[in-house]
Amino acid sequence: MAEQREIGFGVVGLGMGKHHAWAITNAKGARLVAVCDVDAERLNQVMAQYGCRGYAAYRDLLADEDVEVAAICTPTGMHVDMALEAIALGKHLIVEKPVDVRLDKIERLIEAGRNAGVKMQAIFQSRTVPLHRRMKEAMDGGRLGKLIGVHAMLPWYRKQTYYEGSHGSWKGTWAMDGGGSLMNQGVHTVDLMQWLVGRVRSVMGAFGVYAHEIESEDTSVAALKFENGALGTLSTTTCAYPGLPQTILIYGERGTICVEEGELKIWKIQGEREGEEEQEMLRLYGPKRKEEGEGVSSDPMAVGASGHQGEVEDLVEAIRTDREPYISIESAKHAVEIVQAIYESGRTGREVVIGE
Ligand SMILES: NC(=O)c1ccc[n+]([C@@H]2O[C@H](COP(=O)([O-])OP(=O)(O)OC[C@H]3O[C@@H](n4cnc5c(N)ncnc54)[C@H](O)[C@@H]3O)[C@@H](O)[C@H]2O)c1
Repeated sequence: MAEQREIGFGVVGLGMGKHHAWAITNAKGARLVAVCDVDAERLNQVMAQYGCRGYAAYRDLLADEDVEVAAICTPTGMHVDMALEAIALGKHLIVEKPVDVRLDKIERLIEAGRNAGVKMQAIFQSRTVPLHRRMKEAMDGGRLGKLIGVHAMLPWYRKQTYYEGSHGSWKGTWAMDGGGSLMNQGVHTVDLMQWLVGRVRSVMGAFGVYAHEIESEDTSVAALKFENGALGTLSTTTCAYPGLPQTILIYGERGTICVEEGELKIWKIQGEREGEEEQEMLRLYGPKRKEEGEGVSSDPMAVGASGHQGEVEDLVEAIRTDREPYISIESAKHAVEIVQAIYESGRTGREVVIGE
């Protein structure tokens, strides 16, 4: 069979975008054509590292005919505006999480993408983690029986300096970050909960700023009612020194699964193969020793790029075979809806029903 042509990618925004450059370079079927950043130092560094074209203005990158896919990795409040311009030029898209800070904009993007017939992949790399995919299989197969409790905790730590300087001052703002510990760090956990368990019907939430000088929040808590009847709780913070693992505990009538930052802690599902399956799952996905405070719970750049590589390869396949990407923008919208409902509940002191 003839070798298929590589798809040309361009990356806008070179913070997390550096990981995209790596992922694209390593992905099968993809080619890094160009990168863009208004910060000349970041731009020059990535251009030199990958020997690709560089643009200071994103419109110049979008006008580059060799760029077929634009990866939008700028501050969140800029995502949809840039994405809409890319679509107007016929580009396919990768959009970093969360898709945007405004739901009306996300909806406009979904419609514009559909009308233009381009492929749009949202980044929620936690959905690509093999253990999470095994959990999803178990949940979709109803293995836990009727679901009862879903509890997630994100006790992370970010220093004040994370929120300062030219690449920090947009973080923790409502306009550009759409919130703080919940919208920025917590949205991955929110998405995992809804992806694994199903849609959330209503929330009661509270939030505040406790240990940072930021506009939005650095701590949030919420009680959730899922459409399938399960009850949930969620807490997020960037105040928990030195940064502790994300934990998700799910139980139903027939069993319990607990995972800590991608490592399996408990897999107990009633049935003939209970012990055997538990051992097998723990061997494959169980704890590997880590130092306290190591990793993404305390270091924002410790997030790997292998999930991103998988998403890039999936998008290449989606373009070649004209199918939906693995993580569509539509599927990434509900996490933002849940986050915004928690903020609304925190502000009003009332239960917020999603979609009303
Ligand atoms: N998937 C993940 O795990 C993950 C991790 C971190 C950040 N993110 C997401 O990535 C996005 C960026 O976050 P970050 O932490 O990399 O922020 P950052 O501030 O470090 O990087 C953003 C970059 O965009 C550049 N930029 C700003 N305006 C621009 C413009 N008009 N044209 C071109 N470049 C412009 C900035 O100079 C900066 O280099 C956010 O949406 C964030 O939520 C995702």
